[in-house]
Amino acid sequence: MKKIIILALAVLLTAGVASMALANGLGMGIAGSPHDFSTDVWNARQEICRVCHVPHDHQLATQYYLNGLLWNHGVSSATYTMYNNAWSSSINGVSSAQPDGTAKLCLGCHDGTVAIDTFDKYAGGTIFIGGYNAGYKIPGFLDGTNLDLRGTHPISITYNDDPAAGGDVNLAVATATAIGTSGTIAEVLDNGKVQCSSCHDVHDQEAVAGTHLLRVAQTVATGGSASGLCLTCHIK
Ligand code: HEC
Ligand code: HEC
Ligand code: HEC
Ligand code: HEC
Repeated sequence: MKKIIILALAVLLTAGVASMALANGLGMGIAGSPHDFSTDVWNARQEICRVCHVPHDHQLATQYYLNGLLWNHGVSSATYTMYNNAWSSSINGVSSAQPDGTAKLCLGCHDGTVAIDTFDKYAGGTIFIGGYNAGYKIPGFLDGTNLDLRGTHPISITYNDDPAAGGDVNLAVATATAIGTSGTIAEVLDNGKVQCSSCHDVHDQEAVAGTHLLRVAQTVATGGSASGLCLTCHIK
Protein backbone atom coordinates (compact mmCIF):
# COMPACT_ATOMS: atom_id res chain seq x y z
CA MET A 1 0.00 0.00 0.00
CA LYS A 2 2.77 2.41 1.07
CA LYS A 3 4.68 1.55 -2.11
CA ILE A 4 1.66 2.37 -4.28
CA ILE A 5 1.20 5.72 -2.56
CA ILE A 6 4.89 6.59 -3.00
CA LEU A 7 4.69 5.54 -6.67
CA ALA A 8 1.55 7.64 -7.21
CA LEU A 9 3.25 10.61 -5.54
CA ALA A 10 6.33 10.19 -7.74
CA VAL A 11 4.12 10.15 -10.86
CA LEU A 12 2.25 13.23 -9.66
CA LEU A 13 5.48 15.05 -8.87
CA THR A 14 7.01 14.26 -12.26
CA ALA A 15 3.82 15.40 -14.04
CA GLY A 16 3.87 18.56 -11.91
CA VAL A 17 7.44 19.37 -12.82
CA ALA A 18 6.81 18.75 -16.53
CA SER A 19 3.81 21.09 -16.68
CA MET A 20 5.65 23.70 -14.61
CA ALA A 21 8.50 23.66 -17.11
CA LEU A 22 6.00 24.14 -19.93
CA ALA A 23 4.26 27.05 -18.24
CA ASN A 24 7.41 28.80 -17.15
CA GLY A 25 9.98 28.41 -19.92
CA LEU A 26 13.16 29.50 -18.21
CA GLY A 27 11.27 29.14 -14.97
CA MET A 28 11.68 32.69 -13.73
CA GLY A 29 7.96 33.41 -13.58
CA ILE A 30 5.85 36.36 -14.71
CA ALA A 31 6.28 38.62 -11.62
CA GLY A 32 8.41 41.62 -12.54
CA SER A 33 8.44 40.56 -16.22
CA PRO A 34 7.41 42.68 -19.24
CA HIS A 35 3.90 41.17 -18.88
CA ASP A 36 3.52 42.07 -15.21
CA PHE A 37 1.28 45.15 -15.38
CA SER A 38 0.38 45.10 -11.68
CA THR A 39 2.03 48.45 -10.98
CA ASP A 40 0.60 50.29 -13.99
CA VAL A 41 -1.85 53.00 -12.96
CA TRP A 42 -4.54 51.84 -15.41
CA ASN A 43 -4.61 48.42 -13.72
CA ALA A 44 -6.85 49.49 -10.83
CA ARG A 45 -6.88 46.08 -9.08
CA GLN A 46 -3.10 45.74 -9.25
CA GLU A 47 -3.35 42.03 -10.13
CA ILE A 48 -1.03 40.28 -12.59
CA CYS A 49 -3.18 37.55 -14.17
CA ARG A 50 -6.40 39.56 -14.45
CA VAL A 51 -5.15 41.68 -17.35
CA CYS A 52 -5.26 38.45 -19.40
CA HIS A 53 -7.22 35.76 -17.49
CA VAL A 54 -10.12 35.83 -15.03
CA PRO A 55 -11.42 32.94 -12.91
CA HIS A 56 -15.07 33.89 -13.49
CA ASP A 57 -16.47 35.94 -16.33
CA HIS A 58 -18.67 38.65 -14.87
CA GLN A 59 -21.29 38.39 -17.63
CA LEU A 60 -19.64 41.08 -19.66
CA ALA A 61 -21.29 41.56 -23.04
CA THR A 62 -17.91 41.19 -24.71
CA GLN A 63 -17.50 37.50 -23.71
CA TYR A 64 -13.72 37.54 -23.96
CA TYR A 65 -13.78 34.00 -22.55
CA LEU A 66 -14.95 32.66 -25.92
CA ASN A 67 -11.27 32.92 -26.94
CA GLY A 68 -10.46 30.13 -24.47
CA LEU A 69 -8.10 30.00 -21.46
CA LEU A 70 -10.48 32.17 -19.38
CA TRP A 71 -9.39 35.10 -21.54
CA ASN A 72 -10.20 38.52 -20.10
CA HIS A 73 -8.64 40.88 -22.65
CA GLY A 74 -9.83 42.45 -25.88
CA VAL A 75 -8.83 40.63 -29.09
CA SER A 76 -8.22 42.10 -32.51
CA SER A 77 -10.80 42.06 -35.27
CA ALA A 78 -8.19 42.87 -37.93
CA THR A 79 -7.70 40.65 -40.96
CA TYR A 80 -4.18 39.55 -41.80
CA THR A 81 -2.22 38.53 -44.87
CA MET A 82 -0.83 35.13 -43.87
CA TYR A 83 2.51 33.49 -44.55
CA ASN A 84 0.93 30.43 -46.18
CA ASN A 85 1.15 27.92 -49.03
CA ALA A 86 -0.11 30.48 -51.53
CA TRP A 87 2.71 32.87 -50.52
CA SER A 88 5.54 30.31 -50.27
CA SER A 89 5.77 27.34 -52.64
CA SER A 90 8.07 25.47 -50.25
CA ILE A 91 5.73 25.43 -47.25
CA ASN A 92 4.54 21.96 -46.26
CA GLY A 93 2.37 22.71 -43.24
CA VAL A 94 -1.23 23.84 -43.52
CA SER A 95 -1.76 27.46 -42.52
CA SER A 96 -5.05 28.63 -41.00
CA ALA A 97 -6.95 31.20 -43.06
CA GLN A 98 -6.43 33.72 -40.23
CA PRO A 99 -4.41 33.58 -36.96
CA ASP A 100 -6.17 31.30 -34.48
CA GLY A 101 -5.72 29.71 -31.06
CA THR A 102 -3.26 31.37 -28.73
CA ALA A 103 -1.84 33.63 -31.49
CA LYS A 104 -5.12 35.58 -31.37
CA LEU A 105 -4.40 36.32 -27.71
CA CYS A 106 -0.93 37.79 -28.32
CA LEU A 107 -2.04 39.75 -31.36
CA GLY A 108 -4.76 41.31 -29.20
CA CYS A 109 -2.04 43.57 -27.77
CA HIS A 110 0.82 43.13 -30.21
CA ASP A 111 -0.85 44.04 -33.53
CA GLY A 112 -1.38 47.51 -32.14
CA THR A 113 -5.12 47.72 -32.83
CA VAL A 114 -6.39 46.83 -29.34
CA ALA A 115 -5.32 48.85 -26.31
CA ILE A 116 -3.46 47.11 -23.48
CA ASP A 117 -5.90 48.59 -20.96
CA THR A 118 -8.94 47.05 -22.73
CA PHE A 119 -9.56 44.20 -20.30
CA ASP A 120 -12.03 42.86 -17.76
CA LYS A 121 -14.85 45.40 -17.25
CA TYR A 122 -12.71 48.40 -18.12
CA ALA A 123 -13.42 50.36 -21.27
CA GLY A 124 -9.72 51.08 -21.68
CA GLY A 125 -8.69 52.04 -25.17
CA THR A 126 -6.06 54.62 -24.29
CA ILE A 127 -2.72 52.79 -24.10
CA PHE A 128 -1.62 51.02 -27.26
CA ILE A 129 1.59 49.04 -27.70
CA GLY A 130 2.84 51.59 -30.22
CA GLY A 131 2.91 54.13 -27.40
CA TYR A 132 3.93 51.74 -24.62
CA ASN A 133 6.92 50.23 -26.40
CA ALA A 134 6.86 50.87 -30.15
CA GLY A 135 9.51 48.26 -30.96
CA TYR A 136 7.26 45.49 -29.69
CA LYS A 137 4.45 46.01 -32.15
CA ILE A 138 4.07 42.92 -34.39
CA PRO A 139 3.62 43.03 -37.33
CA GLY A 140 5.20 46.31 -38.23
CA PHE A 141 3.52 46.99 -41.53
CA LEU A 142 0.12 48.03 -42.69
CA ASP A 143 -0.92 46.42 -45.94
CA GLY A 144 -3.95 48.39 -47.02
CA THR A 145 -6.66 47.46 -44.55
CA ASN A 146 -4.87 44.19 -43.83
CA LEU A 147 -2.08 43.58 -41.36
CA ASP A 148 0.75 41.85 -43.19
CA LEU A 149 2.11 38.79 -41.40
CA ARG A 150 4.35 37.73 -44.30
CA GLY A 151 7.24 39.50 -42.57
CA THR A 152 6.79 37.35 -39.45
CA HIS A 153 7.70 33.67 -39.04
CA PRO A 154 4.67 31.56 -40.08
CA ILE A 155 2.14 31.18 -37.26
CA SER A 156 -1.08 29.19 -36.97
CA ILE A 157 0.59 26.61 -39.22
CA THR A 158 0.69 22.85 -38.64
CA TYR A 159 4.04 21.39 -37.63
CA ASN A 160 4.22 18.49 -40.09
CA ASP A 161 7.44 16.57 -39.45
CA ASP A 162 6.31 13.42 -41.28
CA PRO A 163 7.63 13.32 -44.85
CA ALA A 164 5.40 10.28 -45.54
CA ALA A 165 2.41 12.55 -44.89
CA GLY A 166 3.68 15.44 -47.00
CA GLY A 167 5.67 16.94 -44.12
CA ASP A 168 8.96 18.84 -44.15
CA VAL A 169 11.89 16.39 -44.10
CA ASN A 170 14.03 19.06 -42.37
CA LEU A 171 11.84 19.49 -39.29
CA ALA A 172 12.92 17.83 -36.03
CA VAL A 173 10.55 15.15 -34.71
CA ALA A 174 8.24 17.18 -32.46
CA THR A 175 7.45 14.46 -29.95
CA ALA A 176 11.13 13.49 -29.52
CA THR A 177 12.92 16.85 -29.48
CA ALA A 178 13.32 19.06 -26.42
CA ILE A 179 12.87 22.83 -26.78
CA GLY A 180 14.89 24.44 -23.99
CA THR A 181 13.32 23.64 -20.64
CA SER A 182 9.77 23.81 -22.04
CA GLY A 183 9.36 20.07 -22.67
CA THR A 184 9.23 18.78 -26.24
CA ILE A 185 8.40 20.78 -29.36
CA ALA A 186 5.05 18.94 -29.40
CA GLU A 187 4.26 20.43 -26.00
CA VAL A 188 4.72 24.01 -27.17
CA LEU A 189 2.48 23.53 -30.20
CA ASP A 190 -1.13 24.66 -29.94
CA ASN A 191 -3.43 22.03 -31.48
CA GLY A 192 -0.41 20.82 -33.47
CA LYS A 193 0.32 24.34 -34.77
CA VAL A 194 3.26 26.70 -34.40
CA GLN A 195 2.09 29.88 -32.67
CA CYS A 196 3.80 32.84 -31.02
CA SER A 197 3.94 30.83 -27.81
CA SER A 198 5.94 28.03 -29.50
CA CYS A 199 8.94 30.40 -29.49
CA HIS A 200 8.12 32.83 -26.66
CA ASP A 201 6.98 32.26 -23.10
CA VAL A 202 4.58 35.01 -22.09
CA HIS A 203 4.85 33.98 -18.42
CA ASP A 204 8.60 34.41 -18.18
CA GLN A 205 11.16 37.06 -17.41
CA GLU A 206 14.06 38.03 -19.57
CA ALA A 207 16.78 35.91 -17.98
CA VAL A 208 19.32 37.90 -19.95
CA ALA A 209 18.52 41.32 -21.44
CA GLY A 210 17.63 41.18 -25.11
CA THR A 211 16.48 37.55 -25.15
CA HIS A 212 12.86 38.47 -25.80
CA LEU A 213 11.29 35.73 -23.65
CA LEU A 214 12.53 33.12 -26.11
CA ARG A 215 12.29 29.46 -25.09
CA VAL A 216 15.83 28.89 -26.40
CA ALA A 217 18.57 31.55 -26.49
CA GLN A 218 19.72 32.62 -29.93
CA THR A 219 23.31 33.61 -29.15
CA VAL A 220 26.32 32.36 -27.22
CA ALA A 221 26.41 35.71 -25.41
CA THR A 222 22.90 35.11 -24.02
CA GLY A 223 23.68 31.61 -22.80
CA GLY A 224 22.81 29.52 -25.85
CA SER A 225 24.30 28.67 -29.21
CA ALA A 226 24.11 30.62 -32.46
CA SER A 227 20.51 30.52 -33.74
CA GLY A 228 19.78 27.89 -31.11
CA LEU A 229 16.02 28.47 -31.27
CA CYS A 230 15.81 28.09 -35.06
CA LEU A 231 18.02 24.99 -35.02
CA THR A 232 15.77 23.32 -32.45
CA CYS A 233 13.00 22.86 -35.04
CA HIS A 234 14.82 23.26 -38.35
CA ILE A 235 17.48 20.71 -39.32
CA LYS A 236 19.65 23.02 -41.40
C1 HEC B 1 -0.09 39.36 -20.83
C2 HEC B 1 -1.09 38.35 -20.78
C3 HEC B 1 -0.97 37.25 -19.76
C4 HEC B 1 -0.81 37.35 -18.40
C5 HEC B 1 -0.62 38.61 -17.59
C6 HEC B 1 -0.92 36.02 -17.87
N1 HEC B 1 -1.12 35.13 -18.90
FE1 HEC B 1 -1.45 33.14 -18.75
N2 HEC B 1 -1.55 32.94 -20.76
C7 HEC B 1 -1.45 33.99 -21.64
C8 HEC B 1 -1.47 33.48 -23.00
C9 HEC B 1 -1.39 34.31 -24.26
C10 HEC B 1 -1.59 32.08 -22.90
C11 HEC B 1 -1.60 31.07 -24.05
C12 HEC B 1 -0.21 30.82 -24.56
C13 HEC B 1 0.60 29.95 -23.67
O1 HEC B 1 0.09 28.90 -23.23
O2 HEC B 1 1.75 30.29 -23.41
C14 HEC B 1 -1.65 31.76 -21.48
C15 HEC B 1 -1.80 30.49 -20.94
C16 HEC B 1 -1.97 30.23 -19.59
C17 HEC B 1 -2.28 28.94 -19.05
C18 HEC B 1 -2.52 27.65 -19.83
C19 HEC B 1 -1.29 27.11 -20.50
C20 HEC B 1 -0.11 26.93 -19.60
O3 HEC B 1 0.92 27.57 -19.86
O4 HEC B 1 -0.18 26.21 -18.60
C21 HEC B 1 -2.35 29.09 -17.69
C22 HEC B 1 -2.67 28.02 -16.67
C23 HEC B 1 -2.09 30.48 -17.40
N3 HEC B 1 -1.86 31.15 -18.59
C24 HEC B 1 -2.06 31.04 -16.14
C25 HEC B 1 -1.69 32.33 -15.82
C26 HEC B 1 -1.58 32.87 -14.47
C27 HEC B 1 -1.85 32.07 -13.22
C28 HEC B 1 -1.23 34.18 -14.59
C29 HEC B 1 -0.91 35.18 -13.50
C30 HEC B 1 0.12 34.77 -12.53
C31 HEC B 1 -1.13 34.47 -16.01
N4 HEC B 1 -1.39 33.32 -16.72
C32 HEC B 1 -0.82 35.71 -16.54
C33 HEC B 1 -1.34 35.32 -21.32
C34 HEC B 1 -1.16 35.83 -20.06
C1 HEC C 1 9.68 30.89 -34.89
C2 HEC C 1 9.80 31.58 -33.66
C3 HEC C 1 8.98 32.81 -33.43
C4 HEC C 1 7.62 32.96 -33.57
C5 HEC C 1 6.62 31.94 -34.07
C6 HEC C 1 7.31 34.30 -33.13
N1 HEC C 1 8.46 34.95 -32.73
FE1 HEC C 1 8.59 36.77 -31.88
N2 HEC C 1 10.61 36.69 -31.93
C7 HEC C 1 11.35 35.58 -32.29
C8 HEC C 1 12.77 35.88 -32.19
C9 HEC C 1 13.90 34.93 -32.50
C10 HEC C 1 12.85 37.22 -31.75
C11 HEC C 1 14.18 37.97 -31.45
C12 HEC C 1 14.35 39.27 -32.08
C13 HEC C 1 14.24 39.27 -33.55
O1 HEC C 1 14.99 38.51 -34.20
O2 HEC C 1 13.41 40.02 -34.08
C14 HEC C 1 11.48 37.69 -31.61
C15 HEC C 1 11.14 38.97 -31.19
C16 HEC C 1 9.85 39.33 -30.80
C17 HEC C 1 9.49 40.56 -30.11
C18 HEC C 1 10.46 41.66 -29.67
C19 HEC C 1 10.52 42.80 -30.65
C20 HEC C 1 11.18 42.47 -31.93
O3 HEC C 1 10.50 42.53 -32.99
O4 HEC C 1 12.37 42.13 -31.92
C21 HEC C 1 8.15 40.54 -29.92
C22 HEC C 1 7.29 41.60 -29.24
C23 HEC C 1 7.65 39.30 -30.49
N3 HEC C 1 8.70 38.60 -31.01
C24 HEC C 1 6.33 38.92 -30.47
C25 HEC C 1 5.82 37.85 -31.21
C26 HEC C 1 4.41 37.61 -31.45
C27 HEC C 1 3.29 38.45 -30.93
C28 HEC C 1 4.33 36.49 -32.23
C29 HEC C 1 3.10 35.88 -32.83
C30 HEC C 1 2.32 36.75 -33.71
C31 HEC C 1 5.69 36.00 -32.43
N4 HEC C 1 6.56 36.86 -31.80
C32 HEC C 1 6.04 34.83 -33.10
C33 HEC C 1 10.83 34.34 -32.64
C34 HEC C 1 9.50 34.07 -32.91
C1 HEC D 1 -2.21 42.55 -22.37
C2 HEC D 1 -1.43 42.84 -23.55
C3 HEC D 1 -0.41 41.80 -23.99
C4 HEC D 1 -0.63 40.49 -24.32
C5 HEC D 1 -1.94 39.73 -24.30
C6 HEC D 1 0.65 39.96 -24.73
N1 HEC D 1 1.60 40.93 -24.63
FE1 HEC D 1 3.60 40.74 -25.03
N2 HEC D 1 3.94 42.64 -24.37
C7 HEC D 1 2.96 43.54 -24.04
C8 HEC D 1 3.58 44.81 -23.70
C9 HEC D 1 2.85 46.09 -23.30
C10 HEC D 1 4.97 44.62 -23.84
C11 HEC D 1 6.09 45.67 -23.58
C12 HEC D 1 6.42 45.64 -22.12
C13 HEC D 1 7.48 46.64 -21.73
O1 HEC D 1 7.98 47.38 -22.58
O2 HEC D 1 7.81 46.66 -20.53
C14 HEC D 1 5.16 43.24 -24.27
C15 HEC D 1 6.38 42.67 -24.51
C16 HEC D 1 6.56 41.46 -25.15
C17 HEC D 1 7.81 40.92 -25.60
C18 HEC D 1 9.17 41.59 -25.51
C19 HEC D 1 9.79 41.32 -24.19
C20 HEC D 1 11.19 41.81 -24.14
O3 HEC D 1 11.59 42.28 -23.06
O4 HEC D 1 11.90 41.70 -25.12
C21 HEC D 1 7.55 39.72 -26.18
C22 HEC D 1 8.54 38.78 -26.82
C23 HEC D 1 6.13 39.49 -26.07
N3 HEC D 1 5.56 40.55 -25.43
C24 HEC D 1 5.50 38.38 -26.56
C25 HEC D 1 4.16 38.07 -26.33
C26 HEC D 1 3.53 36.82 -26.70
C27 HEC D 1 4.22 35.71 -27.44
C28 HEC D 1 2.24 36.88 -26.30
C29 HEC D 1 1.20 35.80 -26.39
C30 HEC D 1 1.61 34.44 -25.97
C31 HEC D 1 2.05 38.19 -25.68
N4 HEC D 1 3.24 38.86 -25.71
C32 HEC D 1 0.85 38.66 -25.15
C33 HEC D 1 1.61 43.31 -23.99
C34 HEC D 1 0.99 42.07 -24.19
C1 HEC E 1 8.74 25.62 -32.85
C2 HEC E 1 9.42 25.22 -34.06
C3 HEC E 1 10.05 26.26 -34.93
C4 HEC E 1 11.01 27.18 -34.56
C5 HEC E 1 11.60 27.39 -33.19
C6 HEC E 1 11.35 27.89 -35.75
N1 HEC E 1 10.62 27.43 -36.80
FE1 HEC E 1 10.72 28.12 -38.70
N2 HEC E 1 9.14 26.97 -39.21
C7 HEC E 1 8.57 26.02 -38.41
C8 HEC E 1 7.54 25.34 -39.16
C9 HEC E 1 6.65 24.20 -38.65
C10 HEC E 1 7.49 25.95 -40.42
C11 HEC E 1 6.64 25.56 -41.60
C12 HEC E 1 7.49 24.57 -42.41
C13 HEC E 1 6.77 23.86 -43.51
O1 HEC E 1 5.65 23.43 -43.28
O2 HEC E 1 7.36 23.70 -44.60
C14 HEC E 1 8.52 26.97 -40.43
C15 HEC E 1 8.81 27.78 -41.51
C16 HEC E 1 9.91 28.60 -41.60
C17 HEC E 1 10.31 29.31 -42.79
C18 HEC E 1 9.54 29.37 -44.10
C19 HEC E 1 9.90 28.22 -44.99
C20 HEC E 1 9.18 28.24 -46.31
O3 HEC E 1 9.22 27.19 -46.95
O4 HEC E 1 8.62 29.26 -46.73
C21 HEC E 1 11.48 29.94 -42.51
C22 HEC E 1 12.33 30.76 -43.45
C23 HEC E 1 11.78 29.64 -41.11
N3 HEC E 1 10.81 28.83 -40.59
C24 HEC E 1 12.87 30.13 -40.43
C25 HEC E 1 13.05 30.05 -39.06
C26 HEC E 1 14.02 30.80 -38.30
C27 HEC E 1 15.03 31.75 -38.91
C28 HEC E 1 13.85 30.46 -37.01
C29 HEC E 1 14.54 31.02 -35.80
C30 HEC E 1 14.33 32.46 -35.57
C31 HEC E 1 12.75 29.49 -36.95
N4 HEC E 1 12.30 29.27 -38.21
C32 HEC E 1 12.30 28.90 -35.79
C33 HEC E 1 8.90 25.74 -37.10
C34 HEC E 1 9.80 26.44 -36.35
